[in-house]
Amino acid sequence: MHSSSRTSPIRICCIGAGYVGGPTMAMIAKQCPDIPVAVVDLNQARIDQWNSDELPVYEPGLQEVVAEARGRNLTFSTDVEGAIRSSNIIFISVNTPTKMHGIGAGRAANLEFVEKCARKIAECSQGHKIVVEKSTLPVRTAEAVKRILSSASSGATFDVLSNPEFLAEGTAVSDLLAPDRVLIGGESSQAIEQLASVYERWIPREKILTTNLWSSELSKLTANAFLAQRVSSINAISALCEVTGANVDEVARAIGTDSRIGPKFLKASVGFGGSCFQKDILNLVYLCEHFGLSEVAKYWEQVVVMNDYQKKRFSTRMVRTMFHTVSDKQIAVWGFAFKKDTNDTRESAAIYVCRDLLEEGARLMVYDPRVSEKQIRQDLMNVFKASSGEVSERHRQLIEKNVTVVKDAYTASNLSHAIVVLTEWDEFKKLDMQRVYDQMHRPAFVFDGRNVLDAHTMDKIGFEVHGIGRS
Ligand code: UDX
Ligand code: UDX
Repeated sequence: MHSSSRTSPIRICCIGAGYVGGPTMAMIAKQCPDIPVAVVDLNQARIDQWNSDELPVYEPGLQEVVAEARGRNLTFSTDVEGAIRSSNIIFISVNTPTKMHGIGAGRAANLEFVEKCARKIAECSQGHKIVVEKSTLPVRTAEAVKRILSSASSGATFDVLSNPEFLAEGTAVSDLLAPDRVLIGGESSQAIEQLASVYERWIPREKILTTNLWSSELSKLTANAFLAQRVSSINAISALCEVTGANVDEVARAIGTDSRIGPKFLKASVGFGGSCFQKDILNLVYLCEHFGLSEVAKYWEQVVVMNDYQKKRFSTRMVRTMFHTVSDKQIAVWGFAFKKDTNDTRESAAIYVCRDLLEEGARLMVYDPRVSEKQIRQDLMNVFKASSGEVSERHRQLIEKNVTVVKDAYTASNLSHAIVVLTEWDEFKKLDMQRVYDQMHRPAFVFDGRNVLDAHTMDKIGFEVHGIGRS
């Protein structure tokens, strides 16, 4: 029994003001004007951005949500300890990147930040608190979090809940406003009820699912694995389409109308990206191996193998099609984000395609409506890093001399030999393609890694169009 937390009014804090923590807390604050919501982060620059008109995260509609609640019941600061002290529900929403070194390197999740949060909470807390895992975590992480919390010397008591976030970037606001479901896993029904009471302010009760802790943790990994698997499945078929004369978009439509399969996540592409899919599958693979389930591990690992193949296949096809050389050819890169409507580039297929083209000596004119030049250069620098962490002088030169970041799609295509579409931004569909064609070299190649341009119109203008999954 923890009567204090049950009777005292809810006060929320969230550690980690990233792509998940920021938007999620902004929505809770908007929907619950009487609940104070303090978002805290170690990174002062990021907090300053959350307090400005230039939010660190681009999401359609987010600016309005933040503007409504900020200063009323939503605050952003670096005062982690103060926020922990004054809250009774604490969300942990720090990042959990794939480990780069040591045991499980390249697969396991790095839980260092989560553990540090738990220790900080143990150190600063008094009375009773509900600690909520919002970050995606390996199954049974809550066990470790509980043990760390139980070492609190102040005598504070804790309930640990798992409440994974299912929002997708680019649609975060609508996903948070009307989620398919909210998942809460935990042992204490009282704690579950208290967290559910927050979401119930705007989400119908029947959409709030409750499970045990381990099911909740595992469901998040499983959901992402299934979604990524669909993309890899249709991408595998796209390779077959290219050699047989079938059209992958037609195949997707044909199978998607089967209500057992359904139409979503069947868009063939140059490969999935984002901070979650690959990380979570590798994490799942690592878990399976840990428990001796090597066939299960191999099964899921293939989803990532197929994705790497798809990216490589795409850049190889470009080079092959352009008479086996792109050396000193100018290529317009349209889009760098991992999907439209976000400024996020983590694991974006664009990074890998650009890497391959640079290695082949191409000159890249990159345009993305939301991604900064600084980010693009940093991502390319990172992808060329050797295991020692060093970037060779040759690669440095390539990035400096052969990458130009421009402000619009027309400038990018001017005097280019080819256009490669790597993000499905809506604005690419509205361009004057005759104008684009007129300023390009001949043959004017287009490699549409997202199948967003109208191939028929492009053919008529004179482009040589190569889409995904079309011969
Ligand atoms: C989230 C989830 O946490 C991750 O598990 C999930 O798989 C993807 O989404 P995200 O919000 O995208 O991560 O991460 P990021 O944008 O990197 O934000 C994390 C924030 O936590 C950063 O601003 C970082 O400064 C902050 N942080 C990290 C802390 O405040 N303290 C720490 O100890 C570590
Ligand atoms: C994903 C999950 O959808 C979300 O529920 C979870 O909380 C976080 O991970 P996110 O990575 O933000 O969200 O975006 P998502 O829309 O899932 O797209 C992931 C990648 O798959 C993108 O690169 C996207 O372009 C690609 N994709 C998606 C395809 O190539 N084809 C599709 O049909 C769908």
